[in-house]
Order: sequence, then C-alpha cells, then structure tokens
Amino acid sequence: MSKLTLPEEAARRRTFAIIAHPDAGKTTLTEHILLAGGAVRAAGAVKARGDNRRARSDWMKIEKERGISVTASVMTFEHDGKMFNLLDTPGHEDFSEDTYRTLTAADCAIMVLDAAKGIEPQTLKLFEVCRLRDIPIITFINKLDREAQDPMALLDEIANRLQLDPSPIWWPAESGNRLRGMVQVGGDGRFQPYTKKPAGSTEDVPHPAALPLGEAAQYFEGSEQADLTDALELVEAGYKPFDRQAFLEGHMTPVLWGSALRHFGIEELLKAIGEWAPPPKVMPARKEAPPETRNAPTPEDITVEPGRDEVTGFVFKVQANMDPNHRDRIAMFRMASGSFKRGMKLKVQNTGKQLSVNAPIMFFASDRELAEDAYAGDVIGIPNHGVLRVGDSLSESGLVRFAGLPNFAPEILQRVRVKDPLKAKHLKKALEGLAEEGVTQLFRPELGSDFIVGAVGQLQFEVMADRLGEEYNLDVVFEPSPYAEARWVAPAGDGTRADLEDFAGKYRPQMAVDIDQNPVFLAKSAWETGYVSERFPKISLTKTKERG
Ligand code: G4P
Repeated sequence: MSKLTLPEEAARRRTFAIIAHPDAGKTTLTEHILLAGGAVRAAGAVKARGDNRRARSDWMKIEKERGISVTASVMTFEHDGKMFNLLDTPGHEDFSEDTYRTLTAADCAIMVLDAAKGIEPQTLKLFEVCRLRDIPIITFINKLDREAQDPMALLDEIANRLQLDPSPIWWPAESGNRLRGMVQVGGDGRFQPYTKKPAGSTEDVPHPAALPLGEAAQYFEGSEQADLTDALELVEAGYKPFDRQAFLEGHMTPVLWGSALRHFGIEELLKAIGEWAPPPKVMPARKEAPPETRNAPTPEDITVEPGRDEVTGFVFKVQANMDPNHRDRIAMFRMASGSFKRGMKLKVQNTGKQLSVNAPIMFFASDRELAEDAYAGDVIGIPNHGVLRVGDSLSESGLVRFAGLPNFAPEILQRVRVKDPLKAKHLKKALEGLAEEGVTQLFRPELGSDFIVGAVGQLQFEVMADRLGEEYNLDVVFEPSPYAEARWVAPAGDGTRADLEDFAGKYRPQMAVDIDQNPVFLAKSAWETGYVSERFPKISLTKTKERG
C-alpha cells in the first residue's frame, strides 16, 4: 500500500518514449537506461529478452532479420523515488501510425541523434508528431565514442531545422579516439572523464568519478584542457541556460551527450528525465454517456487532473498473441487519473460495457507482473478477448471520453486472398484481429466478398503475411487492388444522411466499411478523390478518422 497521496503518486511518474532514426541507438540506449535505473543487471538483457520473446513468438523473426523493431511495448522501473514508464516506439517509417499512437501515451520524449549524422529523416518526422502533441523533448546525442560532427554544428542543426532552442547541459571534450569526457555547462565546471575500452578487452571499464575541470589534468593531453575551458566559456555565453518552463512549453530542448554502448552519459540522462520531464499531464476530455443512452445529459468538456479520484484512461495499443499458446490480447491502458486496484471494475465509454480487471499486467524489464495498484501515468496491460479496442476510453463511471486516437488513411491498398479457399472464414477472423490491433486497416467492400487491406507502408504487409502464417496458420497472397486511396465519408457542413446515401448509391461498387462499420470510399486515383469532392460538396472525404 502506498503511503503517498494520490497526487503525490501521480507526481512521481515519468512516462516517456525514445524517438530516433533507425540505427541511432534507441535499443542500446533503452538497455542502458534500464541498467542505470537498476531495472536490469547486465547489458544485453533487452536483447536477451527480445530473443526469448522471439522464441515464443516467431513472427518477431522479422524484427531480427531486418534489424528493426516493429512492436511497441512499455517497460516500467522505479529509481530514485520515481516511477519510470518507458514506452518503446517502433523506429521504422512504415510504422509511423503505431508510433503516433504510442506517443499519445507519452508525457515526454528523448530524441536520440547519432553524433556523426545529426538529424535524420525519421527523427524529423517523429519530432513533428511530438510538436503536434506538445510533448517536450530531451535531446541525447549518442555515439560520442566515434568520430562526431562539431558539437556546435549539431546544436545549430537543432536550432535551424527544428526551431527549438538547444540548451547544452554538458559539453563534450572531443569525440572518437580522442574523447576525454564532458564538462557541465553553467554549473561549477564539473568534469566527467571517459575511459576507453582497452583494445581486445571484452569487459567494460567504468568511467572515473566526476571532478572539477581544473583538477582533471591527468585526463587530457597537450592543450586539450585549456581548449575545453575556452570552449566552455563560449558555450556558456552563446547558448541560453536551461529554462524548464520553456522546455515544458516546447521551445527549448536540454541537450545531453554520451555513448549508449559505452554506458557514458546515461546516469546524467536518467537524472534529467527524473528532474525535468513532466509528471502526467492534465488531459482534456468529455463527460459523455455511451451512445444511445436514454435521457443522456448533454456532453460537456472537462479536464482530467492526474490526482482526480476516479480511474480514467485510454487504450493506445492492443497487442495480440504475445504468448501464442494463449491467444491473448492485451490492451495497453494509459492511466490519466485515479488510483487503480486489481479487481476493479471499469467501463468502456463508447460501448457501456463493464469489465473486471482481475489480471492487469505491469511490464517490468525482466518480467511481467500482476499490477496490484497503478496511478496516473502508468501503463497497464489488460488481457481481454477483443472487448477493448485502440482508442477506447475506460473509467469507473464509464462517462469519461478522451479525444480519439487518429486512424490515418492508408497509402497502399491491396486485396488479400487465402490460398486454401476452405479457410476463407478463418481469414476474416484473422484480418479482423489484426485490424483491431491496428497492424493494418481492413475494408470490406459493400459488393463482393473480397477484403481490402490498407497500410501506411509495404513492410506492414510483410509483417501481416508473417503473422497470418505463424499465428493463424494461413497462407495468404496479397494482390494489387484497383484502389489508390481510401477516404472516410461523412456528411459535410449542412449535408445530411440523405446526401451520404445519395453519394453511396452512385458509387456503390467503390463503397466499403471499415472495422467500425464506418463508410469508406475507395478511390481509384487521387484525381478521382478530388473530382468526387467537387461534385459532392455536401459530402466530406477525410484522410484521418478519430477513434474512440
Ligand atoms: P536502433 O534501435 O536505434 O536501431 O539502434 P541500436 O541500438 O540497435 O544501435 C544500432 C547500432 O549502433 C548497433 O550496432 C549498436 O551497437 C550501435 N551503437 C548504439 N549506440 C552506440 C554508441 O554509443 N557507440 C557506438 N560506437 N555504437 C553504438 P550494430 O553493429 O548494428 O549492432 P550490434 O551487432 O552491435 O548489436
């Protein structure tokens, strides 16, 4: 039982995600953050854990073969009086939708840059998502143990390309073979020396304790120490000192440096997250009865404080078949408020369904554990049999609804067919399962019996084919479809249902429904979408749909 009050429990949570271009070092950094946080004992544990999972769930082979991470999960650990929830986001661009949803559950992001490469295309995309959602960003410039770009050039790039004030918290003394360590900016000139791994050694050598720069002569050669002292003066004059308010408002990013692989700069990063990353935020929501409730009061806008008594939150991801032996389906529930106790009953706002949460899971680095209690900011896994969907809001009253998570119009639409026609029914179930999880989108044309599967990128189809084979024992082929775009259809402005029906009647062969039975128009080209929009002004064709 916690001795802390509910607002105190919420205030000590730090729920964050790491965003990075593939290969910048996200996995390595995750591992070393967990190590610094005391959540795992030996480096390599995250990979080992990945391998275990792979052994249990073969489809993750694809992760291994391609060296990318395609699933998002969460890891929880307690360190220095704070509870950290690290959300793992897939790095590959084909999974941006999944990443986007995961970021809706994060209060802060760590942006990892490769010190030799700076900002890369995927960094930029992910950064834009964070900006859109007002997620403050801590920058970690990684791989200092390799030859890096000039640190000032890296900071200029952040300032110019991201329109964000970089505020260096430390300053590196060289890089690669000449990396000596780093000095604290704007403090009392503390110097953290770096120790190289001796050639041929498999053991990591710990880095010496920090000391005042003036007393650190033994770590430098030639004029290096004096050069660093001069550089520090320039840096302190040239960059704005860290201002937490500006960081929280998204105007400034504190910049830290290090080498994830060599466990250098990691404690400093963890400390920065603990001290500066925001606690769970106040979330806008609506108080609204489930649809079709008789005599329902008018919905009203509310804000949900993390210290509010009632348990509220939303599902940002559904992971199916984490353990194929159990065909389990786990909804990742991000709590926005309240004090959750195992066994509690929660209601789904949009369906009014109630569920007893008897076996909620917390994901610790080494294992899953039953969650006895949880607070705002925490993510718990709720096993269920398809009752919970991405975007669902859950609360004790069943009346709190968080803004929906968006679905993006897919960029590629393909027809899917199972080789053995006797398995058609089986295919339907499997496709629906994967669509509910948000792996791909599923459209059922009003005419005919085909399914059209939509994805943001080609890789999603590969993952899907793999999973249909491994988890559902279905051998499928994807074939080109005649469609180029899918658009959700609704009456626009003063349009009515009759306008919608008139439109659907004229385009019947191109009408379909999505997994929620919402009408979708399948256009053969971008030109056709434009043409239809002009011809039917009372209809809106949209690229995103808010779920929940
Ligand atoms: P990602 O999840 O962002 O895709 O990156 P990941 O951590 O897998 O790192 C990509 C590569 O960069 C890996 O090398 C990793 O060892 C290396 N790396 C990560 N951090 C550092 C660092 O601080 N310094 C140096 N020098 N390298 C780093 P790999 O050879 O592709 O994989 P592996 O065989 O080492 O696992």
